[in-house]
Amino acid sequence: MCGIVGFTGRRAAEPILLAGLRRLEYRGYDSAGVATIDSESRLVVRKRAGRVAALEELLSQSPAAGECGISHTRWATHGPANDLNAHPHIGGAGRVAVAHNGVIENHAQLRDELTRLGYVFQSQTDTEVIAHLIAQELKKDLDLFSAVRAILPRLEGTYGLAVVAPCEPGVLIGARMGSPLVVGLGDGEHFLASDSSAIAPHTQSVAYLQDGEVVRLTADEFNLEHLERGSIVPRVDRIDWKPDDRELGGVPHYMLKEIYEQPNTVRDACRGRIRRGEATAQFGGLNLTAAKLRRVRRIVFAACGTSLHAAKIGEYLIERCARIPVEVEYAGEFRYSNAPLDDRTLVFVLSQSGETADTLGALREARRRGHPTLAIVNTVGSTIAREADGGIYLHAGTEIGVAGTKSFAAQVVVLSLLAIYLGRLRHMSFTAGLEAIDAIESAPEPLQKTLAIEPLVVAAAERIANSKSVLFLGRDVHHPVALEGALKLKEISYIHAEGYPASEMKHGPIALVDPETPCVVVAPRGPLHAKTMSNIEELKARRGVIVAVGTEGDRELERRADVFLPIPDVPEIIQPLVAVVPLQLLAYHVALLLGRDIDKPRNLAKSVTVE
Ligand code: AGP
Repeated sequence: MCGIVGFTGRRAAEPILLAGLRRLEYRGYDSAGVATIDSESRLVVRKRAGRVAALEELLSQSPAAGECGISHTRWATHGPANDLNAHPHIGGAGRVAVAHNGVIENHAQLRDELTRLGYVFQSQTDTEVIAHLIAQELKKDLDLFSAVRAILPRLEGTYGLAVVAPCEPGVLIGARMGSPLVVGLGDGEHFLASDSSAIAPHTQSVAYLQDGEVVRLTADEFNLEHLERGSIVPRVDRIDWKPDDRELGGVPHYMLKEIYEQPNTVRDACRGRIRRGEATAQFGGLNLTAAKLRRVRRIVFAACGTSLHAAKIGEYLIERCARIPVEVEYAGEFRYSNAPLDDRTLVFVLSQSGETADTLGALREARRRGHPTLAIVNTVGSTIAREADGGIYLHAGTEIGVAGTKSFAAQVVVLSLLAIYLGRLRHMSFTAGLEAIDAIESAPEPLQKTLAIEPLVVAAAERIANSKSVLFLGRDVHHPVALEGALKLKEISYIHAEGYPASEMKHGPIALVDPETPCVVVAPRGPLHAKTMSNIEELKARRGVIVAVGTEGDRELERRADVFLPIPDVPEIIQPLVAVVPLQLLAYHVALLLGRDIDKPRNLAKSVTVE
């Protein structure tokens, strides 16, 4: 989603800002811009709709000189993606430039008020009011820090802000309320970013801003204040950064690279978490004793998108292994639903990015109601990771493709281990625990084998690429796998796709079935296999085209399917982990055939930081 990069120091800002924006590109955006203060204290602003490459092109013709500046990638909320709506926005005819992540909910009232004062708006954004409000304070001879501080209480909604002004060259202001912002500490220079990955090549010393904090940075100074509590000493953390984290290494897309990383993802998610001698799992950061966990009567998972589908798999596994009732809630709904939760309910949120606004909102709501909140998160140091009472990291490494793949695998592994851990605290036997652990630890091999069916998936993709709509079906734990397959396909190919329990078809969706609407059926061998086979017959009777993901050697399924995608015969607990791989590859190849922008699909963002 929107990204911010700021810099102040003693070297040219433009290349640092551009490189930072490039590192944030994977988050999804539709325009980009920079604003710098040049050596003659003039404000230089360059903005372009489209990719960072378009901005780069503009800067190659009209550079933005200066050693202090801000930059932004915008994901449109208020007003379409065009040059005028791109950030930074200018306040008071060149007095100040502002880049903003988040949404200002009272922008319409503020716009009216500023219009009455004579301000002329150039854009349709909510952000421009911030720029004019600051300009108005600067007219009162306030310094830039005080001017920003003065207007913040007037903003309703969420913001991560970066501000520069020609009246104070070399000064960079940041402010945070609900939208992440981090300061990078360099040698005689400072950075500001919405995501530490944007500045990680320059410094690994960072200070995360908290809500209500405002920062003033110059090349040598770092002053932090809380809007109510005044001056504070920043807490500096170190981030892990490996220079090769983001190399494609010859693979054409990050999504494909990340699909292929999944055998390793499983190993990394298991590392240090298995206690074979006790046939159970262990988690360092849960911060809840076994005695407390034994008392849990109900678990609620709140998440969005792919993380929600992983949570649904967790629901089946935990209910099966530990017999604890689990409910999975859309995070964006949970927050406002006022669902009854008793004091023995444990609330988990799941998020790859750790920054999803809906999921963060669910976490805060659960905490407000006095529940211990736990998070299953990939991004170390993210807001959700920092705000949860305890949690489990996925250790999946940076995921760049907007379509989540390896993070899903890591979530499913962590949830499987959690199911075993909770099960072993109750009635799961040593033998059953050990069998489940063995299955999870053995998963990299069948995953590797499944990746090798990619040529067959290409054939399936050719059957699907011209369809207007595709149905994804599965029973039991394969229903969330079907949901995930449908989400992957619609995200990156833009083909309409829906996931259903195979049993539900006859209650309505079967009306859609015809030779032009392929059905992808997830049907590995298992207790409900015969039922799914009957559902396939029902589809075939309506001339449905069947793409089946099934157990290798399942001749009966192979005979009934138009395209058969075999996966190895694996224990039930890891079937979802393996069965989702052909669906990820299917979405990838359909999108490839259609020439889509696979890693940066239209309208989507990697981390959705608005509600
Ligand atoms: C996944 O392919 C999607 N891009 C999206 O549904 C995503 O899973 C969702 O926005 C939640 O993100 P999170 O896991 O970072 O919270």
